[in-house]
This record gives sequence, structure tokens and C-alpha cells, in this order.
Amino acid sequence: MSTVASSARITMAQWRTLIEAAGQAPSPDNNQPWAFRPRGDAVEVLHCRARAIGSDVDDLFSWLAVGAAIENLCLAATRLGLTGRVEYMKRPFTETPDGERIATVEFSTGGQPDALAEWIPQRVTNRRFYKRQPLGDADLAPMIASVDGRCVHLDWLTDLPQRKRLARVVAAVDRIRFEHQPFHEEFHSVLRHSPAEEERTRDGLEVRTLELPPFGATLMRWVAPWRRMQLLNRFGMSRVFAGTSAKQVVCCGAVGLVSTTDVSDRGFLEGGRAFQRIWLAATAAGLSFQPMGGIPLFFHKLSSQGSEAFLPEHGGVLESLLPEWRELFPAAAGRTGVMLFRIGRSGGPSARSIRKHVDDIIVKDVE
Ligand SMILES: Cc1cc2nc3c(=O)[nH]c(=O)nc-3n(C[C@H](O)[C@H](O)[C@H](O)COP(=O)(O)O)c2cc1C
Repeated sequence: MSTVASSARITMAQWRTLIEAAGQAPSPDNNQPWAFRPRGDAVEVLHCRARAIGSDVDDLFSWLAVGAAIENLCLAATRLGLTGRVEYMKRPFTETPDGERIATVEFSTGGQPDALAEWIPQRVTNRRFYKRQPLGDADLAPMIASVDGRCVHLDWLTDLPQRKRLARVVAAVDRIRFEHQPFHEEFHSVLRHSPAEEERTRDGLEVRTLELPPFGATLMRWVAPWRRMQLLNRFGMSRVFAGTSAKQVVCCGAVGLVSTTDVSDRGFLEGGRAFQRIWLAATAAGLSFQPMGGIPLFFHKLSSQGSEAFLPEHGGVLESLLPEWRELFPAAAGRTGVMLFRIGRSGGPSARSIRKHVDDIIVKDVE
């Protein structure tokens, strides 16, 4: 990363602690689309557009990830006796050699340590099937309490029959991912078939984190060329893959929808901050967690770009699913769903995703 001149009261060791915590945030396909430039008592949050995923819509996925990283920065700061004040930039963003400037977080002394901070390193995506036992109000209370109002809301589906209805929507939407060449190629470009392959880029999805059934990893490798996937799709392969996503919705304790009334860069970044707090609260409560980001992303694309933005057959499917999606989350009417996730009780994941080294995401000050 390039260097810039500045003086800082916060030591470089403290910046490393804060930025390492930021880099532990979740991101779509583990793309880690961020860099951080400390300047005095503030840090500039940069978005690396070259790392953003191609299927993103209005930067929703990038902002959820960057928002989660900002939340981690602020939480980790509380453990150093600091409070972060976030200022979001407006478009057009200032371009720098290390990314576009999305936000600045300015730190001042004071404030209480936030207990969620200690769960940052433990938070993980768990794609196993969970116990079907619905979670009760007491189980959900910490997640609800972690969302501190503003433009972000959280709604739940716990009831099994309701989750079965949602599972049908999820399966139908997910099939689109397996039946459209650009989505297929995007997914295979981020798959890492071994820890050694993952180590080379320190990003992407290592195949063990996907919790595939026996021979699943071999099958994934085999279907990487689109023509093979196309061939198998003729025999129902996309249905089989999407069936797994549907089963994940059934095999859990609750499904949550994070939605916002503010459909803007700021609203999506705030959504990411809230999403991270929810996930950390779930981690603290010993609950497993998996985002299902593609579902709200596709519905957002449908509402912002219309069905013409999809292949005709897929646009039609999404339009036909929209009433059911809205009926399942009536409280979210008038808001935009930004993230769907499932939680529940299960064993731990088989593997964790890697992260880039902190030196690769920090734009260092000159001493
Ligand atoms: C915006 C966003 C969308 C995501 N969508 C999905 C998803 O649809 N399915 C899934 O299994 N994981 C999803 N994830 C989880 C990421 O794949 C995960 O955070 C990343 O691989 C890093 O792994 P970790 O969360 O275990 O640290 C999403 C994460 C973010 C931030």
C-alpha cells in the first residue's frame, strides 16, 4: 500500500489492532473490499472497487461489508478507551490510489467498552444444517437489542411452516444463481479448492467452509466449466443445489431480515453496521449464523432495475415470487430488505475463512 504523511496520537500498534478487527468483518464471497488509512486521530475507510463482486447492485453488498468493518473499528476502539464518530462521504467519492473514500471514523477518548467487541474474532459463517427447533423470544432478545434503531429494522420468521414457505422462495431464487452463466462463473472464480490455493490470495471461499456432502468438492470442481453445469442443469442439477439452500432455511431456529427505510449508500452502510452487531450478539449467545445475502439482493435489483435486468425467464420467476416474499415479512413493507440470515443451534463449522494480512489493508503513515 502507498504511504501518506500525517501525525497520530493513536499509536501504530493501536491502529493495527483496530484495523485488524475491521478486517475480520464478513464480506460477500470473502472479497474484503476495503483498506484503511490512519490520519491523526481519524481513519479513512476506503472501498477497493476492483475487489467488489460483479453481481452487486447499487453497491449493496460492498456497503454491508464495509459497514460491518466500520462497526468492528468502533467496537474494537471501545476496548482502547476510545469512541468512534462516523462520517459518511457523499458521491462522487474521492478516489485514492488505494480505493475510494467512503467514510471517516474519528476517535476521541472516553466511553465504555462494548461487550460485543470481544466476539469479533469468534464470529464465523456456519453453513451446516442447524436444529429445527424454533428459537423463542428470549433467544432472539439479544439480537433485537443490538439493533439501535435509526433507519435499520429486524424482523423474524421462527415458525416452521412459515420457514417452509420461505424455503420455497429461497430455492426458486437460488436456482437463478446456478442457471445463469455470469453468476456461475463469479462463484467459481472465488472458490478455493484447497487451503494452499486459499493462502495464495488470502480471500475467497475455501471449499471446506461450504460444508458440502461427500464428493461435493469433487463435483464442484467438475462443474466449474459452464458447459458442464449447463449439461447437468438439463438433468435438474440447479434444483439439487438450490434444494440445499431450501433445506438450510428449514434446518435452523429462525430466519432474520435486516431492512432499511433509507435506500442510499448511507442506509446500506448503516445496515452493515447493524448486521454486524446482530451477528456478534448471536455469536455471544452461542448461536450459529449464516447470511443468505443473494435473496434480498435479487429482490432489490428487481425493484431498482426492473425485470429487464434479468434473463426473461428469471425476471418472471422473481416477479411471481415477490408477493410471497412480501407476505412473509409484512412488517418490512415499505422498507428495503438488505440482508437475510438464518440462526440456530449446531456444531461449529468445519473450517474458517482466511483474511488478508493487516499490512495489506492498512495505508501506513510516514513515521
Ligand atoms: C453482503 C454479504 C453477503 C453474504 N452472502 C452470503 C450468502 O448468500 N451465503 C453464504 O453462505 N454466506 C454469505 N456471506 C458470508 C460470507 O461468505 C462470509 O462472511 C465470508 O466468506 C467470510 O467468512 P466468515 O464470515 O466466516 O468470516 C455474505 C456476507 C456478506 C457480508
